[in-house]
Amino acid sequence: MSLRVRFVLIIGVLSLLSAVSLAFFSYRFSVNNALVEARKQGNIVFNYIEASRSFFRDKQLPQIMGLVEKDRFYPELMSGFALTRGVWEVFSKNLAGYKFKQATVDPLHPPNKADAQELAIIDEFRTKPDLKIKEGILEKEGEKYFYFARPAKVEKGCLRCHGNPEDAPRDQVEIYGTASGYHWLDGDTVAAFIVYVPIQAAIDNARQSAAQLFLIGSGGILLIVLIFRVFLNKYVVSPVTMLEQRATEISLGKDIASRITTSSNDEIGSLARAVDRLRISMEKMLQRHKGK
Ligand code: HEC
Repeated sequence: MSLRVRFVLIIGVLSLLSAVSLAFFSYRFSVNNALVEARKQGNIVFNYIEASRSFFRDKQLPQIMGLVEKDRFYPELMSGFALTRGVWEVFSKNLAGYKFKQATVDPLHPPNKADAQELAIIDEFRTKPDLKIKEGILEKEGEKYFYFARPAKVEKGCLRCHGNPEDAPRDQVEIYGTASGYHWLDGDTVAAFIVYVPIQAAIDNARQSAAQLFLIGSGGILLIVLIFRVFLNKYVVSPVTMLEQRATEISLGKDIASRITTSSNDEIGSLARAVDRLRISMEKMLQRHKGK
């Protein structure tokens, strides 16, 4: 392998490696940043939901219960879940991509039914009673989301509406029927509140900028390799080839009178001067030989 090929290969491979790792780390860095950001936003949304829910439960509900006739039930006025769902429907109109779900194993309101991934989350809350919050990355319909989940546990008071359908408020039975959402057990974890923050766009962006970085890096490398090649040719390969040619000629006694000139002060310059001294010695030797 020639010197030129070897140098160009080494530099090319090393630079390519650095371009690849640069792109890779830029991708990792951007995705990490996106996750941190998603986590922050999800936390804010989650806290807001919990706050509105607890204000409803502690401040509004007791007053509402005092005003409404006994045994009547208006979901929007009396169910924290109906309230949360209603508020979210308005809220999410201005927040494209975000999702919130009161994912439930056996819900009153069918759209609250947990899908397979959500069932797995609820199951984990069931088996780990100390687990109060779960977060991670999920893919839904081909889009990636960062999610936050908290468990919902059944207490005695819940069973008035989620226990035996015969005990439930008549209005509730009328609106939701009795097919599901009943016979829950005290202490069981039946649902998880889950906020989904969209991160697909951020991941796509990270991928795109990593690809751009790689392309620009590779372009830069190509340019550097080309420039390096020109310099290598001019200062190393050409003079060495010329010296090799001259040394061969001198060894054959050919063209022995023509001087090897060089203006360079580097190692190749010294080599050229050494070959020229060799040529002079050879020339003298040949003259002495002829003189005899
Ligand atoms: C006064 C009746 C009532 C009580 C008490 C009640 N719920 Fe509900 N719950 C409802 C109604 C009605 C809905 C349906 C809301 C909707 O339309 O989204 C609901 C919805 C839910 C949902 C969403 C899934 C679904 O069934 O649609 C969960 C989870 C839930 N309740 C858990 C609880 C828990 C836990 C308690 C006790 C801490 C409780 N509920 C107490 C009436 C009640």
